[in-house]
Amino acid sequence: MDKILICDSITKRFGGLIAVSRVSVEVSRGELLGLIGPNGSGKTTLINLISGVLEPDEGRVLFEGRDITKLKPHARVALGISRIFQGMRVYPYLPVYYNIELSARSVFKDARLARSKTIWALTTTKLLAESAELPVNLTPYKLKMVELARALVTNPKLVLLDEPFAGLSPEEVGEVIKIVRKLNESGIAFIIVEHKLRYLMKLVERVVVLNEGRKIFDGSPSEAMNSEEVSRVYLGVM
Ligand SMILES: Nc1ncnc2c1ncn2[C@@H]1O[C@H](COP(=O)(O)OP(=O)(O)OP(=O)(O)O)[C@@H](O)[C@H]1O
Ligand SMILES: [Mg+2]
Repeated sequence: MDKILICDSITKRFGGLIAVSRVSVEVSRGELLGLIGPNGSGKTTLINLISGVLEPDEGRVLFEGRDITKLKPHARVALGISRIFQGMRVYPYLPVYYNIELSARSVFKDARLARSKTIWALTTTKLLAESAELPVNLTPYKLKMVELARALVTNPKLVLLDEPFAGLSPEEVGEVIKIVRKLNESGIAFIIVEHKLRYLMKLVERVVVLNEGRKIFDGSPSEAMNSEEVSRVYLGVM
């Protein structure tokens, strides 16, 4: 299958701590991949290495066959890698519409194209009614939708979601899942970091498990559930 992303044996150290240790992960075009592991196992660090917030000490990151290991985050966004952060990253006092349009303009210099992509992203995330609202006045769910819209508006081929279900009600998680499925059907690949495994395991096709910076499992959700090693690191969690 066509690999859109290849992490080739990447390592990231913070002083003496090895946060990500020789991790290799491949993502196919249009795939839905789950990335799980206990607290501190290196999930967010791996997402940072893929989005360009961090540079690995060793190893390479390839996107559509191109070595992007040293590219800055904005250059990766332009190539088609978007992310939403663990926690919120919107401008709280800038109306929702402009929050999203600003992200669009970072990739589309043509104002009309940026505008039409913004309307599309607002529609996809059901934010049209909140276009003029300030994010500071929105619910956590709507804020998450603003983040998602900001990630989608740049025409990504791969979207990285770090704990998209955190702080949401079961109904709201269901809404996020619906939107992710629809976008995935249109060909967008996702890497989703989540602790809420009940929901994640039903959504993704494949799951990568990290423990203490190392990849300990890569396979289907049902195989993961039956893996002794995975159960051991998730003792009492799953
Ligand atoms: N900027 C940093 N400086 C120093 N240490 C860091 C930094 N970022 C992460 N770490 C450490 O690297 C390890 C991996 O952290 P990371 O945030 O990737 O874990 P995680 O799997 O995302 O955890 P969680 O599920 O709690 O979000 C942890 O021990 C963390 O304390
Ligand atoms: Mg994290």
